[in-house]
Amino acid sequence: MRTSMLKNKRAHRTLAVFALAGALVATAGCGAEGDRPGWKFLPGMMNSVPHDTFEANPVSESGGMLLPPEGTIPVTGVPFPYGNSEEEAIRAGVELINPLQATPEILARGQHRFESACFVCHGAGGEGDGPIIGRFPNPASLISDHAKSYPDGRIYHVITHGQGIMPSHALQVLPEERWAVVLYLRQLQGLLDDVNAAGPVAEPEPTPTDVGATPDVVGDAR
Ligand code: HEC
Repeated sequence: MRTSMLKNKRAHRTLAVFALAGALVATAGCGAEGDRPGWKFLPGMMNSVPHDTFEANPVSESGGMLLPPEGTIPVTGVPFPYGNSEEEAIRAGVELINPLQATPEILARGQHRFESACFVCHGAGGEGDGPIIGRFPNPASLISDHAKSYPDGRIYHVITHGQGIMPSHALQVLPEERWAVVLYLRQLQGLLDDVNAAGPVAEPEPTPTDVGATPDVVGDAR
């Protein structure tokens, strides 16, 4: 009888110690205020592992940025149903119609994107004389007769898939912005009057860049 009472007492004491420790842990973070982060319990869960700028990314195999897996479709868009070949570029030139009008806002947007994504190679006036000259094979002039002869849809295709040694700029220029860049390029080429003379497109055909449009062909996810 006595022994069991003693055991009970011990058990109570142990319980009390645990309860006190629990209460201490539970209130431990309460000291946080202003610049004081409070007492940190298991700080490994709190402090993230820092990485230096330009350090190799330990998560990706190449050490570079993680790219979306092949075939990924952006939540905001639909696949671009043209492959990466000369024939597909020609087909895009025939089928795609620029849904944007050359308003001052759209041209300003196109200029901004052009100067961010294209200027470095093609130069501010599109003459193929950007600051990269000498470090990269000379970029093509965009105000040549050859480039002028490209229909809007083909230029859109070049931005999306690249051409020859020009890499794709699909990640740098959003689908709708590509059309704005096309219009700005027309302005650089001195062809904007022709675009305007053609008059506004009454009801632009939905293009694969139109969010919500249903693609008939599921192609490359760009
Ligand atoms: C890294 C340099 C570089 C950047 C950046 C670049 N281009 Fe190019 N671009 C080139 C090169 C080089 C060519 C010639 C490719 C070939 O046919 O071999 C070219 C070709 C083109 C052509 C075809 C011209 C023709 O007559 O065949 C167009 C159109 C074009 N680029 C538009 C753009 C636009 C628009 C942007 C910005 C979204 C852009 N480029 C960004 C290097 C670049």
